[in-house]
Amino acid sequence: MKKLILLFILICNLLASNINFIDVKSKSSINFTNSEQQYLKNKKQITMCVDPDWMPFEKVENGKHIGLASDYIKIIEKSIDIPITLIQTKNWNESIQKAKNRECDIFSMVPMIEERKKYMDFTSSYLDIPMVIATKTDKHFIDNIEYILDKKIGIVKSYSISNILKKQYPNINIVDVESISDGLMQVESGKIFAFIDNLATINYMINKNFLGILKVSGRLGNRLQYRVATRNDEPILNTIFDKIIKNIDVATNEKIFTKWVNSPNKETIVDYALIWQILIVVFLVILIFIYRQYILNKVNHKLHILVDEKTKDLEDINKNLEMLVEEKTKKLIENEKLFAQQSKLVAMGEMIGNIAHQWRQPLSIISTASTGIIMHKKYDLLEEDKLIETCTSINENAQYLSKTIDDFSNFIKGDREKTIFSLKDGINSFLSLVKGTIKSNNISVVLDLQENIKIDGYENELMQCFINIFNNAKDILVEKVEDNRLIFISTFINKDKVIIKIKDNGGGIPEDIINKVFEPYFTTKHQSQGTGLGLHMTYNIIVDGMKGTVEVNNIEYKHDLVKYRGAEFFIVLSLN
Ligand SMILES: Nc1ncnc2c1ncn2[C@@H]1O[C@H](COP(=O)(O)OP(=O)(O)OP(=O)(O)O)[C@@H](O)[C@H]1O
Ligand SMILES: [Mg+2]
Repeated sequence: MKKLILLFILICNLLASNINFIDVKSKSSINFTNSEQQYLKNKKQITMCVDPDWMPFEKVENGKHIGLASDYIKIIEKSIDIPITLIQTKNWNESIQKAKNRECDIFSMVPMIEERKKYMDFTSSYLDIPMVIATKTDKHFIDNIEYILDKKIGIVKSYSISNILKKQYPNINIVDVESISDGLMQVESGKIFAFIDNLATINYMINKNFLGILKVSGRLGNRLQYRVATRNDEPILNTIFDKIIKNIDVATNEKIFTKWVNSPNKETIVDYALIWQILIVVFLVILIFIYRQYILNKVNHKLHILVDEKTKDLEDINKNLEMLVEEKTKKLIENEKLFAQQSKLVAMGEMIGNIAHQWRQPLSIISTASTGIIMHKKYDLLEEDKLIETCTSINENAQYLSKTIDDFSNFIKGDREKTIFSLKDGINSFLSLVKGTIKSNNISVVLDLQENIKIDGYENELMQCFINIFNNAKDILVEKVEDNRLIFISTFINKDKVIIKIKDNGGGIPEDIINKVFEPYFTTKHQSQGTGLGLHMTYNIIVDGMKGTVEVNNIEYKHDLVKYRGAEFFIVLSLN
């Protein structure tokens, strides 16, 4: 607020500094006689005629008297303390007429000439200025007017200098012009050769309108002294005005002269009304601005509080959310671990079942063979050939058992070592792991495996994928198919890709769930039978671990001329 008031004061100062105020303080030092004071008291107002177009000396602009003379009139007006009223005229000629008719009491600025003394008195001069000749810029310097007496010389009609020159040079060819501008324009157009007036006026007009076209090219010996003229039928008026003019000090004279003649472009008159209007508008604008700022600050403050509150709420919510998300993520990771462990345990359980099934046969062979040898030895019937044959069979079965153990431990170890392995070998070892399941559930596995496909990846994990797909096929076959349970496994190379297809004849996956089977924990089986992780793990191993793809579709196909329907898993891996 303080800043704005300071700003306002500064603007006022700036405005004031651009305007040339003339000191018009009352001259209390003037001693008017009683009769002069009495005259002024009765007079009420003084009427004034001026030259309406005579800058920088004077001019009437928008009904106001401006120019050098107007500053002197202001000083006089202040001193006499009664108004001096302008009588407007079209030109100087009309002003003279009005003075003669006593319509105006004074002339503001005139030189003293005999003819005017008939109706006017003259005060002392307040300005003394030389007369000069203006011509076009291409004309030579004129050091004596006599050289141009044969040429047309313009002077404003009724100007006193005209008569003075006519007396001095009877041969002079003077052309009356309407005004100074008119005279100078006629010089410019070549209608007249030169124009005569005082130095200040000509200088002012050339600077304003004829720069580079006209110039002051000579000086007359005559000087003109300008005075105030007062009606001669009221001589007391002259004594009053003369006193005032004599009382104007040199500093004020210089100030006025500099203002109007030395800086001719400053025609400024002090229009206080306009200044006040500007100041009031500026002040109003500042007030509106302050009010707007105040309202804005208020709203801003409210908004700040609201935003702070909301931010705090959001921060709290965020904190809670972060904690919640952290908690849930932790739980999910734990669950995932648990499920992975569980599914591994289930897989291990199934594996043990398979091994048990696979071992039963060879163990009974080994057992039968060894007890046979013992019996034959007891009854001394043991022939050498028989012994070798039986031992060979025992050895073969023992070898098979050992391989089963190797396969099993390889799977359980789950080492994540990336190796290059034969796809056919991998599928065979997976099949030997599920051999028991295949037999006990009466499933026929139809193989179509291309030789020499090498894969760079995790063999054990890929086997686990096969087991997961196989187990699902087995489950659906056991549930839905009585006879002729079929699982087809085919592998082949297409361009630089390895394609593995595993299909069954279990009737397919219902269309409304087929898009969900790879999602974690999606199962249609009873809790005790399925976790819903099998295909999710398969997807992760193939897509994330081996950069392959896996998808499932229901297909219809023919085998041995019989039509079947089932799910087909389509795995694509990169060829090593
Ligand atoms: N060959 C298929 N034929 C029909 N439905 C299938 C087949 N394979 C998978 N599905 C369906 O997809 C579901 C998801 O299989 P996924 O192996 O992920 O889980 P699951 O077998 O239910 O449980 P687990 O995690 O023990 O394997 C199964 O519950 C089943 O409904
Ligand atoms: Mg499964």
